[in-house]
Amino acid sequence: MPYQAASDRYDSMVYRRCGRSGLLLPAISLGLWHNFGDVDTFENGRATVRRAFDLGITHFDLANNYGPPPGSAEESLGRILAADLRPYRDELIISSKAGYTMWPGPYGDWGSRKYLVASCDQSLKRMGLEYVDIFYHHRPDPETPLEESMGALDYIVRSGRALYAGISNYPAELAVEAINILRNLGTPCVIEQPSYNMFNRWVEERLLSTLEAEGVGCIVFTPLAQGLLTDRYLGGQIPADSRAGRGHGALRRSAITEDKVAKVERLNELAQERGQSLAQMAIAWVLRNPAVTSALIGASRVAQIEENVAALQKLSFTADELACIEQILAG
Ligand SMILES: NC(=O)c1ccc[n+]([C@@H]2O[C@H](COP(=O)([O-])OP(=O)(O)OC[C@H]3O[C@@H](n4cnc5c(N)ncnc54)[C@H](OP(=O)(O)O)[C@@H]3O)[C@@H](O)[C@H]2O)c1
Repeated sequence: MPYQAASDRYDSMVYRRCGRSGLLLPAISLGLWHNFGDVDTFENGRATVRRAFDLGITHFDLANNYGPPPGSAEESLGRILAADLRPYRDELIISSKAGYTMWPGPYGDWGSRKYLVASCDQSLKRMGLEYVDIFYHHRPDPETPLEESMGALDYIVRSGRALYAGISNYPAELAVEAINILRNLGTPCVIEQPSYNMFNRWVEERLLSTLEAEGVGCIVFTPLAQGLLTDRYLGGQIPADSRAGRGHGALRRSAITEDKVAKVERLNELAQERGQSLAQMAIAWVLRNPAVTSALIGASRVAQIEENVAALQKLSFTADELACIEQILAG
């Protein structure tokens, strides 16, 4: 039976404006960094994407190198689009990126125009798309003039390969430079994609307020600290089917330290007092700042998508709860 999207898919998702642009993004977006490679089960990933869309998640985030092997997550999404989501293309925001090592030689990495344009073309081919909605420079390149990398993004948008330009992992000062270059070129930077979660708060120092002042949206990746801020590793256990347990994921077993687990357990108690799971509280916590447009989660199964989207039922925090979180994190 062909897939038919749920008719109530727009009833409960919250959509937030991406900076001062016309683009609305779901408060929770799904990234395909893990769980969609050739090493994963295709039907599980397919079910996850379908459930996400049925729950109002309209934004799916990719990059050239997601897999493993690199490129295979985009190929998986291409298959899901072809099988299920093609009729809904105009309801979807699909992003991709280039900036990390993708192919051998001097033109398969960093931020030259040569690499960014060629990589964008490869991504479109893998996904079977005519255009992506957002194309990002994945990380700053200290060797290439910023004008060249931003000029490539401008060209990618003007040539119809992408609708919007974005930057990822740019620190505040460089972000402002990039935003200004793009603005002067007439292709505004619509979004920045930095990491942000309770254990990694660098964006609070300057980046979030800078983006807000510039009118640029912000989608934050790893809001669950790759699964640490969930019930996955409570008690210090490392389940065999978890990211840390599976071995090919980016979360090292060594990152599950006693100190982190002790904090996670206290945060988990607070989440329960709020009537939420820890994953739900961690998502609500990154969304508490209006400068954050969307929390970019990952999910290895349908149940995680359902649990995480239900975070939207309780986004508010009391001052006491926020203070308690600060105390736990500082402890
Ligand atoms: N721009 C960049 O440089 C960059 C870098 C990293 C990521 N990203 C983007 O951000 C996206 C999200 O990254 P991420 O996957 O690390 O995010 P995350 O949301 O912090 O972690 C997701 C992982 O946490 C676990 N999880 C999720 N919900 C759960 C729940 N309710 N209960 C228990 N465990 C749960 C799952 O791992 P298990 O396998 O253990 O179930 C899941 O794969 C990526 O897909 C990518 O699009 C971008």
